[in-house]
Amino acid sequence: MTDRYETHDLDVLVIGAGGAGLRAAIEASALGASVGVVSKSLLGKAHTVMAEGGVAAALAHVDPSDSWKVHFKDTMLGGKMLNNWRMAQLHAQEAPDRVRELEQWGAVFDRTPDGRILQRNFGGHSSPRLAHVGDRTGLEMIRTLQDHGVHRGLDIYMECTVTQLLTDGGRVVGAFAYWRETGRFVVFRAKAVVLATGGIGKAYKITSNSWEYTGDGHALALGAGAELIDMEFVQFHPTGMVWPPGVQGILVTEAVRGEGGLLLNAKGERFMERYDPKRMELSTRDMVARAIYTEVKEGRGSPHGGAFLDISHKPAETVKKKLPSMYHQFKEFANIDITKQPMEVGPTTHYAMGGVRVDADTGAATVAGLFAAGEASGGMHGANRLGGNSLSDLLVFGRRAGAGAAAYAANAPAHGNLDSAQVEAAAEALLAPFQRASGPDPYSVHRKLQETMHTLVGIFRTERDLKKGIEEIRALRDEVGKARVEGSRAFNPGWHLAHDLRSMLIVSEAVARCALQRKESRGAHARLDHPGLDPELGKVNSVATRDEDGVRVSQSPLPQMPAELRALFEAEPAGART
Ligand code: FUM
Repeated sequence: MTDRYETHDLDVLVIGAGGAGLRAAIEASALGASVGVVSKSLLGKAHTVMAEGGVAAALAHVDPSDSWKVHFKDTMLGGKMLNNWRMAQLHAQEAPDRVRELEQWGAVFDRTPDGRILQRNFGGHSSPRLAHVGDRTGLEMIRTLQDHGVHRGLDIYMECTVTQLLTDGGRVVGAFAYWRETGRFVVFRAKAVVLATGGIGKAYKITSNSWEYTGDGHALALGAGAELIDMEFVQFHPTGMVWPPGVQGILVTEAVRGEGGLLLNAKGERFMERYDPKRMELSTRDMVARAIYTEVKEGRGSPHGGAFLDISHKPAETVKKKLPSMYHQFKEFANIDITKQPMEVGPTTHYAMGGVRVDADTGAATVAGLFAAGEASGGMHGANRLGGNSLSDLLVFGRRAGAGAAAYAANAPAHGNLDSAQVEAAAEALLAPFQRASGPDPYSVHRKLQETMHTLVGIFRTERDLKKGIEEIRALRDEVGKARVEGSRAFNPGWHLAHDLRSMLIVSEAVARCALQRKESRGAHARLDHPGLDPELGKVNSVATRDEDGVRVSQSPLPQMPAELRALFEAEPAGART
């Protein structure tokens, strides 16, 4: 049956070639598995590069009192205690080794005067903890992982989109995909599959995310019967560009504030004084994003609807050395010299805290044969991620998921059976938009979805808006079911979008339904109609699964933290804990 299509047999298939995917693939390959990496885009072109300011790890090079316990505690408090404690523990314990390993593989970090890896401040971290390469840390990490992976002999399938996971008796046994260049179909038979597809930002109007971030892994997992958790927690990075319109949403790294940048409103006030007087600009992202949003709403915004971010009080040479990308980005896109003038910035959709529910130690999802790592997985960051913790997350849990998948594959006696009915149904679903004589075009549906998510499922939420949002998302799902695309399968972006929309719509429904279910405000999820924390809801994860009609949501108890870790929080005020 599958001899109709190009087919590849692998032990481990990794979907996604960002930091998590590459790290998983390197590990699985080092453990003896045959590994293929599917990348929707070109190798090296991953959203990992958008984590610019650094990778968080308690190396204690700048503050000798830093330790994994302090990092663990900062991460849990930043996540409003909703994090999977075991993931937060492993992350804090293993991040330093993963950073040192990366250095051994050739990453060139900035140095302290005595030649060690330099670390900088970031919001919510109680010590300077971010190892960095100017403001190009993610780029350096991808370059290093890519070099290392290519030399390991990984099979890379570039410009290839996976549209469906294939299952056999409840176990994931492969994936159906198409080549973006030719539109031809391809089948991967694999003993284990790792999802490392990144986030969901393209469902929103203003985002730092690049075109690949359409919730593919989240949707693939739901389709295969796996659980997602905590999808209501979407991070709005406080500082994206707001002007000119063509670059709206592009990231302005938190490193600007880490290096001493000040946030000012139109009256010249350091407005963070009103929202978090202790941490000011280095408050957590959820707080700073809401503060900027509120300043604008209350009429104290900058001319283009943001806030001013000013680093011009620092010596020009320091700014150019520490923030070279920011200097060029503003010079080229906005004709602003940041060594002399303030930037204009505002919140931009940046990161999904929610994702595939995984086992902390192995990255195994709730369906056999399926694993997930990085932004596609959930639990590590709770209700709000601290900046810099994504780069360390993808190293720690990319490695663990790669090892988990390789071990699973080694124990699997043989490849599972590929079901021709599933393959043919996947092919038919992809080709359907070509068969229709008329119907909405995918671009207009995408614009409507982005508007809906921006206005109804955004930084501040209410029951009324969320219910309306769910109605609109479901109406758009009907529209996309009737969408028509023209032309051929070769290089057809409208056709690609018609498929991506199916992922974005199901994931958007999961976000909106989880947000409606959580009747409190916690971390990145702010409900105007439920402004306080509910301690009872601090004990549960939101769970989303697929049903015939869309997404079903429920709640499940958080894993219990052991007493010795709980003791670390005993000195904290109750408000910080919940
Ligand atoms: O602001 C930044 O450089 C982004 C870092 C992150 O999301 O971890």
